[in-house]
Amino acid sequence: MRAFVTGATGFIGSAILEELIRAGHKVLGLARSDAAAASIAAAGAHVHRGSLEDLESLRSGAVAADAVIHTAFIHDFSNYAPAAETDRRAIETLGAALAGSERPLVVTSGTLLLQRRGPLATEEDAAIPSFPRKSEQAAAAMASRGVRVSLLRLPPSVHGDGDHGFVPALIKLAREKGNSAYVGDGLNRWPAVHRLDAAHLYRLVLEKGSAGASYHAIGDEGVPFKDIAGVIGRRLHVPVVSKSPEQAAHHFGWLAHFVGVDCPASSKLTEEKLEWQPKQAGIIADLERGTYFETEQTTHAAPSHR
Ligand SMILES: NC(=O)c1ccc[n+]([C@@H]2O[C@H](COP(=O)([O-])OP(=O)(O)OC[C@H]3O[C@@H](n4cnc5c(N)ncnc54)[C@H](OP(=O)(O)O)[C@@H]3O)[C@@H](O)[C@H]2O)c1
Repeated sequence: MRAFVTGATGFIGSAILEELIRAGHKVLGLARSDAAAASIAAAGAHVHRGSLEDLESLRSGAVAADAVIHTAFIHDFSNYAPAAETDRRAIETLGAALAGSERPLVVTSGTLLLQRRGPLATEEDAAIPSFPRKSEQAAAAMASRGVRVSLLRLPPSVHGDGDHGFVPALIKLAREKGNSAYVGDGLNRWPAVHRLDAAHLYRLVLEKGSAGASYHAIGDEGVPFKDIAGVIGRRLHVPVVSKSPEQAAHHFGWLAHFVGVDCPASSKLTEEKLEWQPKQAGIIADLERGTYFETEQTTHAAPSHR
């Protein structure tokens, strides 16, 4: 299969590229710069120049492929509404290019967006309508136009080498503040997945996902936040401390909401339907490996709505 991948140079997209190529697929990666083009070519994929804002480039990429995986997102969290709107338009454009064909479109979403009805968020739960990111609504609109679209929902922490999401941001903060904090009793739970397990699931959804289905990439269903803060404190040799919700807002800044959220999620239905099994280390074991603490990693600079 020849797959057009947006976000092909990203933390997750680059793993998808490798996963697809290893499995014998051909990949066309969206590149908006010379550096991106060089990294896509070095990975053994073909380069498609364009950007999320250049809708014609998205259309032509989709038209040239048998399938599309959409992972690109503008992580400019100080200007989130336009980023979410760019994502919505990109999904609409990619979908329109595939409409009336059997060619699949895999859209990235997040379990944090879900309205959890049971003990764990499942594939059958729907997105919170007021959530600013509208990837799910855009995908549903495309499904109603006959596009073979599937959703792949990621947990708030996708971890592994090259991570520049929440966990590196927490490590950076703990270094700055001289302590590693959690909110209240710290028993609120975060789901997580390793980027290589997530990449494997993208491939399976591409190859055998059902139209209109949602799939979850969950390695850890819910790790108590206190455990994550505990490893960070131990590795940095700083105290692990509790903050009240009021103190947390000041201490964590843009991270406060995410640090306190209890959002366990399951991928049981995905595992049954696609025979996917996470094989990589869980988030605590990955943190314990120590690479997260070797150097100061680059992190997204402002609030995330993943
Ligand atoms: N990482 C996580 O923990 C996590 C958790 C939940 C959900 N997600 C979601 O998973 C997806 C992939 O995340 P990630 O961590 O791999 O992101 P990332 O490392 O920040 O990569 C973002 C990708 O999007 C591309 N991109 C950004 N703006 C673009 C634009 N205007 N035009 C074209 N391409 C553009 C980037 O290209 P350049 O190389 O040119 O910058 C890069 O390839 C995103 O939808 C993200 O929100 C991630």
